[in-house]
Formats: sequence, C-alpha cells, structure tokens
Amino acid sequence: MTLGTLFAQITDYANRADPYPLYAALRASPVTRQDDGSYLVSTYYEVRSLANDPRLSNDPRNSIPGADGPAASEEDTNLPPAFLFQDPPGHDRLRDAAMRPFGPPHSPRFLHDLRGELARVVAGLIDGLEGKDEIDVVGDFAYPLPVTAICKVLGVPREDEQRFHGWADTVASGLDPSGGPRGKEKAQQARRELGVYLSGLIDTKRRRNGSGILGPLARDTGPGGSMSTTEVVATAVLLLIAGHETTVNLISNATLTLLRHPEVLDRFRKEPELVVPLVEEVLRYEPPVQFIPFTTALADIDIAGTTIPKGVTVRLMLASANRDPQRFDDPDRFDPDRADNQHLGFYTGIHYCFGAPLARMEAQLALPELFRRLKNPRLLTDPPPYRANPVLRGPRHLPVAIDGLTAP
Ligand code: HEM
Repeated sequence: MTLGTLFAQITDYANRADPYPLYAALRASPVTRQDDGSYLVSTYYEVRSLANDPRLSNDPRNSIPGADGPAASEEDTNLPPAFLFQDPPGHDRLRDAAMRPFGPPHSPRFLHDLRGELARVVAGLIDGLEGKDEIDVVGDFAYPLPVTAICKVLGVPREDEQRFHGWADTVASGLDPSGGPRGKEKAQQARRELGVYLSGLIDTKRRRNGSGILGPLARDTGPGGSMSTTEVVATAVLLLIAGHETTVNLISNATLTLLRHPEVLDRFRKEPELVVPLVEEVLRYEPPVQFIPFTTALADIDIAGTTIPKGVTVRLMLASANRDPQRFDDPDRFDPDRADNQHLGFYTGIHYCFGAPLARMEAQLALPELFRRLKNPRLLTDPPPYRANPVLRGPRHLPVAIDGLTAP
C-alpha cells in the first residue's frame, strides 16, 4: 500500500463501515500527495493550521478548470454561490447577515425559543414507534427530525415539509463523488426546484412576516440592505443542505456508538445530563463530516516539511485529525469523560459550522429521550449498511430490536 492511493481507498465504498485504519495509515505523513493530484492533510495541528490559513480558498472558482470540485454541483442553478463556497469579504458579509436573525448578538433567543417545539417533535417521533419490535433509527427517527428543524428555522409551512426530504436527499447525494454525472444532474434539478419554491416563499414572507429567519432576511434586502433575493435563496438552500444529512448522521452515529458501548449506555440512562460531553465525543469519534473535500491552495504553502503547490486541491481530513494520538490520548477509545475535547467535527476558522448550536440542541434533545423510552434496544446488524457518501458518512439504515416503549 502506498500513501498516494489512500484517498481512493477511503472513498471506496468497501471501506465505508470502518475507514479509521486508513486514516491511521495516512497519518504516517501529515501531508501527502495523492495519485489524483490532490493533497491530503491528516494530522490535527496541520488541519487546524490550514483551516485558519487565508491561503486556502473555499471558492470553487479558484480550482483548476476541470477539477472535480463542488463547482460541478453549483452550475446551472442561477443562484449566486452560497457563503460556504466563498472567501472573504463576500463570505463574511453573507454569513453576518444570515446570523442576524439566527443567533447572538441580534437574536440570542431564536434557537432557545424553538426548543419546546423540537422537544415535541422528538416525543412525537418516538410515540410513532409504539407497537413495533423492530425499528430503523435512521428512517423512523433521525432522518425526519433535522428536516423539521430546518423548516422551522426557515419558516417553511408544515404541509411543504415532505417535499424537502426529497430535495435535500437528492442534493446531498449529488455531493458524493461516486455518484457520477447522473447523480450531479439530479442534484442540480433538485436545487433548481428548491430555488423556485423558496423564491415564492420569500415573496410571501416579504409581504407578510411569519415565523423563521426568511421573513427578516427577505425584508433586509434592496439598496443598502445586506442580501439580494437570490442571495437569500442561496443561503436558505445552504442551510437546508448543510443542516440535514449531517445532523441525521450525528444522531445515528451516536445511537450506533452507544449500542456498541453498553457500559456507557447504562451510565447514560442513569445520567441523561451526560449527553452534553457524549455528543462532543461522538463528533470527535464518528464525525458526520469526515473531511473537507475541496479547498484550493492560492499560493505555495510550506507545511510539515512539504510544499503544497499553488492551484492544487487540498482535502482536510477531519475524522483523521480527530483521532490523532499527538492530540488525543488513546484516540480510538470512545470516552465521553475526555478532557479538553477540542474536536474538529464542526471544523474551525471562518467556515466553522454556522448551525453548530442547532445541531447540538437537536442531538441533546433526541438522544436522552430516545434511550429513556426504548426498552432493551439491540443492534440487529453490525456494521449497518452505510450511505455511499464518504464525506457525509453515516448509516443508511440502523435496524434495532426493542421490547416496546416506556410511557412518555
Ligand atoms: C452534526 C451536524 C453538523 C455537522 C457535523 C456540521 C459540520 C460542518 C462542517 C465540517 C462545516 C465546514 C464545511 C466546509 O468548510 O467545507 C460546516 C459548515 C456549515 N454548516 Fe454545518 N454541520 C452540522 C449541522 C449544521 C446545521 C444544522 C446547519 C444549519 C442550520 C449547518 C450549517 C452550516 C453552514 C451554513 C456552514 C457554512 C459555514 C461557512 O461557510 O461559514 N450545519 N458544518
């Protein structure tokens, strides 16, 4: 095995259930050139350093023409690039504007006020498992929750939520490099449909404020305002996509990890407040975003004895950095008591996850309630079947046997 073929192996579906030995092999060298010409960064301090380095660009317009970057999934949508795919100053302007209705300092209560509603959604999903002795934790529980949460954040009417499941799923699968041209085409089509739908919704919200951030964002436009209508649409699409499968994976990966660690699960049932460090440890140990797949070097970058040449694609391997023994003691051990758990599950630097407080809230609501109510949950398949995507890695299904539910 040569280091230059490791990326091909990491993306190979055969290794989806357990990519961690490949990441361990990759860490033999912090920065490696792959046979496809990209550079992989695998160690904690090097990933951290590059994530904060303005010489790395998230903007696909800087990538070499023809490179298989995110540009392909952005084409033909008639939308400006969302802030995830921009560098400063464009990134900062849009991110600041999106934060105004969503979080501190302008809207510190916004997420807090959604808490009760989301707790009811969690309870309702679990009530729906009544009478079953076998459940799919992904399809029956983890999958519906984040879509509902994003719909509430955006202010999407309830009757339209089902359509979001389809769109979000299709667009997310278009990000999978193994999906081929057909996957990308379908993803672009779904993005266009979402865009048309959201433009209509934004028009309505501009006239008549409702719940969610789209109303404030839509009225905050025009000359002197901070976002154009198409920028609001692009931001809404970004929030929907970025907040969907990632959070599904967090809840599913946490459930799988707990069922594989019965001693931690026993303790969690007695101490539900353990959920806070437990969620952080899942974000380190089984991160829902395994790596940042496409950034471009804007200059030659010297790091850890290697020069990354200007113009190449650089991939930052978060899941590998999270298990770097130089940073985490006994990194392959799942340990919610771990001190100073500065994992990179939400990334770091200017593109640090915008939705981290929401994702944490969802997982912290979902997991204690799920394990309080499920009687004697047992994994039916281990490993479970995984989704194809190597970046947004998580089970496609998580079949679990139960002896029914305890009362609400
Ligand atoms: C467990 C769930 C989540 C994980 C693990 C996660 C992880 C990440 C990561 C690794 C990035 C950096 C991506 C890059 O630079 O290429 C990111 C960015 C982002 N995330 Fe999340 N995310 C999660 C949930 C959410 C949610 C719920 C939302 C929406 C409310 C969201 C919205 C965003 C946005 C908008 C960005 C772009 C930030 C920027 O470019 O400044 N994420 N997330």
